[in-house]
Amino acid sequence: MNGESENRKVVLTCAQPTGKLHLGNYLGAVKNWVEMSEKYECYFGVVDMHAITIPYVPADLKKNVYECTAQYMACGLDPEKCNLFLQSSIVGHAELAWILGCICPLGQLERMTQYKDKASKHKENLNSGLLYYPVLMASDILIYNADVVPVGEDQKQHIELTRDLAQKFNSRYSDTFKIPEPYIPQAGARIMSLQTPTSKMSKSDPNQNGTLYITDDPAVLRKKIMSAVTDSDSEVRYDIENKAGVSNLMSIMSALSGKSFDDIETEFKGKGYGDFKKAVADVVVDALAPVREKFLEISADKKRIESALAKGNQAAQRRVNRLMSKVYRKVGFMRFE
Ligand code: TRP
Repeated sequence: MNGESENRKVVLTCAQPTGKLHLGNYLGAVKNWVEMSEKYECYFGVVDMHAITIPYVPADLKKNVYECTAQYMACGLDPEKCNLFLQSSIVGHAELAWILGCICPLGQLERMTQYKDKASKHKENLNSGLLYYPVLMASDILIYNADVVPVGEDQKQHIELTRDLAQKFNSRYSDTFKIPEPYIPQAGARIMSLQTPTSKMSKSDPNQNGTLYITDDPAVLRKKIMSAVTDSDSEVRYDIENKAGVSNLMSIMSALSGKSFDDIETEFKGKGYGDFKKAVADVVVDALAPVREKFLEISADKKRIESALAKGNQAAQRRVNRLMSKVYRKVGFMRFE
């Protein structure tokens, strides 16, 4: 390895292989990851081990891993520039999670907001995996000695736990892990549902017309945008309080075109919502049509997805092995080979 790559910051983030990505995921997360992979040493994990904490069908899990990886590649994550890995393929994540679990107070896991939410939804068959989920996540991060972890606001508490566990391990066994920093995009970049513009765009929105998927057909994208909820006047003006729908469409346009809100307001002065929506649809279709094309091309070529993951897995495993030999030594485990 040359000096430059030794000094490059290490970025790690992971996502569960669940369903389709929407415009909110793309603008709020994946687009940043693509930019980061130009500058930093990046590891992007598809975390299938996290996905089995809720009821699932094994064949669907496999299908989702392919689909999810293809979507990330279609968004611009280039296997030559970053390491796309599959969590269950890497030996070490589960091992380190066990070790971290042994220094993690039970009470801290029971206080995790996401656990409490999920536990109330899965009351009947509450498995320990749901409770243990953040420890596995801490392991995903610490095992790469990541400097920066781009995540959504909802994962902030999990990152705090990760930092706590790293500090605890370091003080108990001597300095081993870097204390990772979260990178949380500012709330302004949040994309809302087109139908209920006061709540986040989401794949679990009961009204699917409010969610723009990156793999939607252009005609579907246009239809969803043309029927987006607005308000009863006709002025294109940024005002989240009183004009949530229009403001959201302006955010989308601004994020994809680089135009400021002022520019957009000036451009559509005196024009109606119809014209404005048509322009938003054009911008969205221009941005997402190539992503969809690429997605269809990649999904038709399973081998291409497999070799991307194989390459990423290899780099990931190499990095993990280095750290895990240290961890084993420090905790007093031996390897007789
Ligand atoms: N819990 C994260 C989420 O649902 C996914 C995740 C698992 C993750 N391991 C991670 C994110 C490590 C960042 C780093 O979004």
